[in-house]
Amino acid sequence: MTTSREPVAVIGTGYVGLVTAAGLAELGNEVWCVDIDVDKIARLQRGEIPIYEDGLADLIATNRDRLHFSTDLGPALDKARLLFVAVGTPPTQSGDADLSAVFAVIDAMPISGSHAIVMKSTVPVGTGAAIKRELATKGKSGLAYVSCPEFLREGSAVADFRAPDRVVVGDDGGWAGDSVVALYAPLNAPLVRTDVASAEMIKLASNAFLATKISFINEIANVCEETGADVSEVARGMGLDGRIGASFLRAGVGFGGSCFPKDVAALKQLAGNSGYHFQLLNAVIEVNDLQKRRVIAKLQKHLGTLVGKRITLLGLAFKPDTDDLREATSLVLVARLQAEGAAVCAYDPVAEDRSGQYLSGVTIAASAQEAIAGADAVVLVTEWAEFLALDWEQVAATMAGRVVLDGRNALDPAIIRAAGLAYEGIGRP
Ligand code: UDX
Repeated sequence: MTTSREPVAVIGTGYVGLVTAAGLAELGNEVWCVDIDVDKIARLQRGEIPIYEDGLADLIATNRDRLHFSTDLGPALDKARLLFVAVGTPPTQSGDADLSAVFAVIDAMPISGSHAIVMKSTVPVGTGAAIKRELATKGKSGLAYVSCPEFLREGSAVADFRAPDRVVVGDDGGWAGDSVVALYAPLNAPLVRTDVASAEMIKLASNAFLATKISFINEIANVCEETGADVSEVARGMGLDGRIGASFLRAGVGFGGSCFPKDVAALKQLAGNSGYHFQLLNAVIEVNDLQKRRVIAKLQKHLGTLVGKRITLLGLAFKPDTDDLREATSLVLVARLQAEGAAVCAYDPVAEDRSGQYLSGVTIAASAQEAIAGADAVVLVTEWAEFLALDWEQVAATMAGRVVLDGRNALDPAIIRAAGLAYEGIGRP
């Protein structure tokens, strides 16, 4: 890799920050990573990776000599002109994005005519303009500003960095935007060079549209249950229409994660704050909430009261190949099942380390087999590969009851039924 590539700083070492840093290091950039979390930086300096993300540990290890970790912004400012901001923007009680971490970074910026802030964090439309106003009032208007939203998915973040569907660069056409474009040029991705507000909206609108697709197919699934159609067949037939597309039409127990719930709420609030009632997004959110709760009624249909019943959840993470439990459907299921008087047991291949932080009163098993033994019903919540490879004859032999609820339509109903179990999917007859 060439050594003439521009050194960069990445502020915030969460999923987005770490993957961006490691990906840029692979492209040959020296990357100065900064985080206020002393423990996290110490671990990264020792070569430990604080999150589970496929391929990330290897990528960091391979490019270790170009990655520098510190809690101090000083060396990053000395070495790099482009300062990527990848700090969290969690939802507040009102559903607006909490921008306190973003503005803490902006406050820490020096007066400079040679640095640029490159915003990777997902922020409401208008944040770039607000930051530029804030910089001007502090005499820091020499700092350039670029919006460069991130579209990577957890679980495939490294692959997504290497082969993005598009790179979006929003700026006022100055040197900083040109430098960010040059940074991503080796990836040969389609480029959208636009203004800051449009770049911010591209990110929110993309996530809101994908979430809408999921809620739409979940509603179709619910109607399929009433009419005898099979939503998997319906999605297959719909997806072949190039105008619709096959992706994000998997019906299930609702979407979760750190992005969709937060970004849909943030876009709804953003519209509401400027006087526009974004009616469609209200429905997307409500459908998603109800979709999680329908699981309880389905279990009751088979088991009657859930009081004293042992219900096993296979998977806790919001999707496979991640240890992330944020806004995971499992959290709602656990709370609802416990409220109905069920004893909840769960197993997840990696998320159990984090489960204590989110779940209480749940028996966390050490294996799928251990979790399944003695269960009255098994609910597939996260479609981890190891659950798809289970021996269902063996499962049937160790369960106390017969109910298998496939919350992701990821199992073969014929195999489950052949094992003498009762199969219930989402929108499948
Ligand atoms: C998402 C966006 O895809 C990504 O571009 C953005 O940068 C961050 O948010 P992520 O949250 O990592 O990525 O996961 P994703 O694979 O998009 O899945 C989100 C949720 O939707 C998961 O809970 C998943 O199970 C659910 N989902 C997805 C469905 O229920 N059905 C589908 O067809 C697709």
